Amino acid sequence: MKSDFKKELLKAKKEGYAIPAFNFDNLEMAKGIIAAADETNHPVILMVTESAAKYMGLDFVYEIGRIAVKTSKAPILLFWDHGFDIELIKRACDNGFDAVMLDSSMKPFDINVKETIEVVEYAHARGVYVESEIGHVGGKEDDRESKDKGFTNPQEAIEFNKLTKVDALAIAAGTSHGLFKSKPELQYDLIEEIVNSIDTPVVLHGSSGVPHEALQKAISLGIVKVNIGTDLKIANAKAVCEWFDQNENGYDARKFGQAAIDAVKNAAIEKINVFKNIN
Ligand code: 13P
Ligand code: ZN
Repeated sequence: MKSDFKKELLKAKKEGYAIPAFNFDNLEMAKGIIAAADETNHPVILMVTESAAKYMGLDFVYEIGRIAVKTSKAPILLFWDHGFDIELIKRACDNGFDAVMLDSSMKPFDINVKETIEVVEYAHARGVYVESEIGHVGGKEDDRESKDKGFTNPQEAIEFNKLTKVDALAIAAGTSHGLFKSKPELQYDLIEEIVNSIDTPVVLHGSSGVPHEALQKAISLGIVKVNIGTDLKIANAKAVCEWFDQNENGYDARKFGQAAIDAVKNAAIEKINVFKNIN
């Protein structure tokens, strides 16, 4: 069902849990994520990156999103993730997305502010919420790879938040997109300092592969949106591989597709349970 992105995030912050934001790359992943939301009756942010949307086809993605929101019993928030092309972000605003992310985190502070304000003005005029990133998470995000990483500077985060009036702020605090090459070291003091300095909901990207206890600690400090992409991609791919291991001469896309849907659903439910049961 449709819900209000910011209200859901603020409710999560008040009540001390986090809303998972899951990326989908195809119909099977989208169906698995929606089934997880329905089975747990927990709000879920259904995300598509710009590059995944280009792969599936923009119009197909708009329709998948629309139908997901319409048919699900649980709150589904449709989210345009890691937008680099402002024109495509604007199209997402015009095509039913509840929230959009601009990623100008690699650009100088002033440009990041200027571009974020442009997106905020366009989106807010249409009732759409905006997330933007300050600092740089880095790693492999879809077809972009960036080795640069910079923890968010708390003073910059406060200034950026004030100047842009974003609805959610993505910070770099020790995670990285994609598979980790080294153990993630979450910067809890940094998370706490930023969360306590601003009212805007704070977002953790690159959360696949991070131990669940570490994510729970970050949530207990006030992180309210936790982005998971790679862990669901792995669940999807492994399920298809295992299906072919067991069905050497198999060919029916509906059968290995169902295995993928079930695996993504189970992986998503596992994350939902981790993010909502915070002590
Ligand atoms: P992971 O693929 O590392 O989970 O990151 C997902 C993400 O941050 C999407 O924006
Ligand atoms: Zn991300």
